[in-house]
Amino acid sequence: MTQIILPGDANSLGNAFGGKVMQWIDVAAGVASRRHGGGTAVTASIDSLQFHRPIRMGDVVVLRARVNCAWRSSMEVGVRVEYEQDDLAPQHAVSAYLTFVAVDEQGRPRRVPPITPETDEDRRRCEAADRRRELRLKQKLQARRNNE
Ligand SMILES: CC(C)(COP(=O)(O)OP(=O)(O)OC[C@H]1O[C@@H](n2cnc3c(N)ncnc32)[C@H](O)[C@@H]1OP(=O)(O)O)[C@@H](O)C(=O)NCCC(=O)NCCS
Repeated sequence: MTQIILPGDANSLGNAFGGKVMQWIDVAAGVASRRHGGGTAVTASIDSLQFHRPIRMGDVVVLRARVNCAWRSSMEVGVRVEYEQDDLAPQHAVSAYLTFVAVDEQGRPRRVPPITPETDEDRRRCEAADRRRELRLKQKLQARRNNE
């Protein structure tokens, strides 16, 4: 997905709003999960995001999303965001991991096809996603306990 930072997307310093970039990340990941899961999928969680460098007004922003792994109804989507400034080579701005859950018309989780890794890199991504999922579900349980 390719976007450009317009004046309405930037603060008074001319830097892109983090929330705007997060919105695009959510959309790009939503499209990837929808394609893999064959229908509507909702954002269940977004792992922490670190913005290391400012993206400036007028920069072109390129987002690449891929489904790293899929389980019963949930999928981890990785999104890499780069920006292009004048003649400079594309710069890495931020990466994100999101979990999407495929849902039916009543909003209930439904099954998705598994990911079939084709390369060592695919396998590595899916195994890393497995480890992150375990951590996420622990955090979810902990957050639930804290709110009780
Ligand atoms: C996401 C949602 C569908 C999960 O429903 P649920 O009744 O909790 O379902 P379950 O506990 O059976 O979990 C279903 C799957 O979601 C995963 N999941 C649930 N919460 C999760 C979380 N916070 N992070 C990662 N995965 C999560 C579970 O691991 C499970 O995955 P699996 O089927 O692949 O094993 C439900 O919580 C929901 O609708 N949330 C709101 C989503 C939304 O509106 N997002 C936009 C926010 S504005």
